[in-house]
Amino acid sequence: MSVKRYDAVVVGGGGAGLRTAIEIARDPHIRVAVVSKVYPTRSHTGAAQGGMNAALGNVIPDDNPEAHAFDTIKGSDFLADQDAVFFMTEKAPEIIYELDRWGVPFSRLEDGRIAQRPFGGASFPRTVFAADKTGHVLLHTLFEQALSKDNIDFYNEFFLLDLIHDGERVKGVSIYDIKNGEVLVLQAKAVVLATGGFARIYWFRSTNAIGNTGDGQAVALRSGVPLKDVEFIQFHPTGLAKTGILLSEACRGEGGYLVNKLGERFMKRYAPEKMELAPRDMVSRAIEYEIREGRGVGEGARAYVYLDLRHLGEERIKERLPQVRQLAIDFEGVDPVKDLVPIRPTAHYCMGGIHVVDYRTSETPLKGLYAVGECACVSVHGANRLGGNSLTELIVFGKFAGIAVREFVKEVDYLELTEGEVNKGREFIEDLMKREGEENLAHVRAQMGEITWAKMGIFRDEESLRSAYEELSELLERWERIPVVDKSKVFNTNLIELLELRNMLELARAVALCALNRRESRGGHSREDYPERDDENFLKHSLVYYENGELKLDYIPVRITKYQPTERKY
Ligand code: FUM
Repeated sequence: MSVKRYDAVVVGGGGAGLRTAIEIARDPHIRVAVVSKVYPTRSHTGAAQGGMNAALGNVIPDDNPEAHAFDTIKGSDFLADQDAVFFMTEKAPEIIYELDRWGVPFSRLEDGRIAQRPFGGASFPRTVFAADKTGHVLLHTLFEQALSKDNIDFYNEFFLLDLIHDGERVKGVSIYDIKNGEVLVLQAKAVVLATGGFARIYWFRSTNAIGNTGDGQAVALRSGVPLKDVEFIQFHPTGLAKTGILLSEACRGEGGYLVNKLGERFMKRYAPEKMELAPRDMVSRAIEYEIREGRGVGEGARAYVYLDLRHLGEERIKERLPQVRQLAIDFEGVDPVKDLVPIRPTAHYCMGGIHVVDYRTSETPLKGLYAVGECACVSVHGANRLGGNSLTELIVFGKFAGIAVREFVKEVDYLELTEGEVNKGREFIEDLMKREGEENLAHVRAQMGEITWAKMGIFRDEESLRSAYEELSELLERWERIPVVDKSKVFNTNLIELLELRNMLELARAVALCALNRRESRGGHSREDYPERDDENFLKHSLVYYENGELKLDYIPVRITKYQPTERKY
């Protein structure tokens, strides 16, 4: 059994993981491993299109970090921790300029300064961007920086099996080599989880990569680490109608309209001031209301409304939204230069994640375990994230988590591994490969996708959530009887999909439980039986964790340092 030692292991090779690893590795004596399920440049950060927020004030000089903080807190429906939000918005500008120096090819104003575009819920044009490929260029630049460090080793195409810990402190991870079926243990003083989100629990309609299955969150949950606010799922308003593929919010930031089948800009009914640039939770609900009231095109699951970009003109569309145009042509068969684009909301982002106890370090309750990016809940997004704040979150908190880990690993020694800990991952895989049973992986996964969309989607209520929880619990039992049909060791996608399905089922069930017990509507959590926000009873974060094999709930207060909650109007 192979055991290797690193001061720090970062699980996740996307923007959050790479930014953290670069920072840890600034000390050349510290050895860092980056473990990634895919080759890092294929991570889901590459799919982020529209940009990242920082109050540079390049377009309107009045913009400032406090305005960014206020917009974020209001956008979060007052569930974000305000000290963490201020930390992010104050640090964001300097970190954008650092990325600029590292070579991120940001789009520019005529005078050469970094351009900024309007995004939803923001009071100034604050989103820096590289056309509509911001995540792609960010990811590649971070990867180049990471590759330049001799003290970072990459474990590409390795799947996270388990955290190794003694209940108090982390000892390392066990990982599965997808390329050859071997299990490896990486012993470490610190582990950073940066595995992205889990919006693929909405299997049939999501902007997320197929691999966004919440592997880090599920492993943390099984290790007794709480998840926070997982009931808050973001549905992006403009998914392509047929596939759910993302069309960036930049479409509306650049001036695009949303229209119903009557040609009406219907957002005037829901957000008369901000119109299409209201926050995503409101725009997504507005689209669904239009469809319910018969003003969408078509019926039921196939219904849609339109995104209209035609008035922007061919030149602007090609310069600012080239990827959006290509996606519409390839996947919907329409050209936004001359056609309306059919769109409907699609599962996009998890506001909740692994409970971070200190936003300055990204530490979790388990000593030596850190979480960053969408995998974590700091919490800066509260009940609804503003578009453009996720890349900002991962570069800011990635950097500061990296600093904290660098200090931590200098202060502590390795914890000894027992033989049982070293062998557990390998034995688990061997048992799984031998498993027999009558269930079918694709069927169970399809049922999960139907339950999540129908019963815990944009709108929820007591009955739908209770039945989602019960049905997902049954699917988890059925998971135990799904055999691995493919017995090979080389790129066994059958085995990987089975492991991913367990992670998704556990997380989907945790979402259902938290959503069931939050009897109010706030941000992305819209309860038809409790349509109002209820600050008296629910201005608090939910925590979900395992105790004796059962999911339990707890609540902790929101940190309100400046802005008292008010009604959210746009
Ligand atoms: O719409 C977009 O370009 C996505 C951005 C985000 O989720 O922040």
